[in-house]
Amino acid sequence: MIYGEHIQCDFPDGEGHHLRALAISALTVPDHGCCAVIGPSGSGKSTLFRCLSGLLRPTAGRILIDGTDITALGSGELAKWRAGRVGFIFQQALLLPYLTVMENILLAADIAGLDRSQKRREAEAWLARLGMEGFGRRMPGRLSGGEKQRAGFIRAILTAPQLLLADEPTASLDGDNSRLLMGCLLDYQRESGCTLLCATHDPAVQALFPAQIRLMKGALAS
Ligand SMILES: Nc1ncnc2c1ncn2[C@@H]1O[C@H](COP(=O)(O)OP(=O)(O)O)[C@@H](O)[C@H]1O
Ligand SMILES: [Mg+2]
Repeated sequence: MIYGEHIQCDFPDGEGHHLRALAISALTVPDHGCCAVIGPSGSGKSTLFRCLSGLLRPTAGRILIDGTDITALGSGELAKWRAGRVGFIFQQALLLPYLTVMENILLAADIAGLDRSQKRREAEAWLARLGMEGFGRRMPGRLSGGEKQRAGFIRAILTAPQLLLADEPTASLDGDNSRLLMGCLLDYQRESGCTLLCATHDPAVQALFPAQIRLMKGALAS
């Protein structure tokens, strides 16, 4: 269960003032929830995901995830909490260019201290399932945008996260690749029972989700 209250996130605007990117008075996402997060560009979707994943500390407010107040954890505790619990699919995939695809995929599992050979076998199976058999040896620079997104997806789920945050995962994909990736995401959510939040402004992606959280200028819109 995700529970947030009075979440505020301010950024310096470069002119001595602050820009309030997030101002959410109350947020509840039930366990095993499957929810689209929608709103125009700049409405705070990525900022909300960074706060929920513990990558960014909100300026004020509390965020409880499965009973843990992550806003009260120190940086070391927060990093430990995040590893293995949270999967983050970044909009631009963010694969490290100097590591092979397999090394990239295993990165989060390595940080979480999981069994490397077991995870490598799982990763090979996912690559095959996603039409990328043998791609583990390649360097990311040799992958298409869709292939990078699929590798980013595998990296995010390999730790079996309870919370999976997908930040506009189909933004740079064509229709076929978008459907392929969304199919994998939703299959994984059903099989694992994780809580999935997916930021999107694609109506076709929105329509796949039973529930929606709508953001407007950093606040929840009904
Ligand atoms: N690191 C940052 N520094 C300053 N402003 C930021 C930063 N990150 C986001 N913002 C601002 O916060 C607002 C919300 O951004 P974001 O969460 O990225 O929106 P979305 O993902 O919905 O497009 C925007 O006005 C954006 O410019
Ligand atoms: Mg964003």
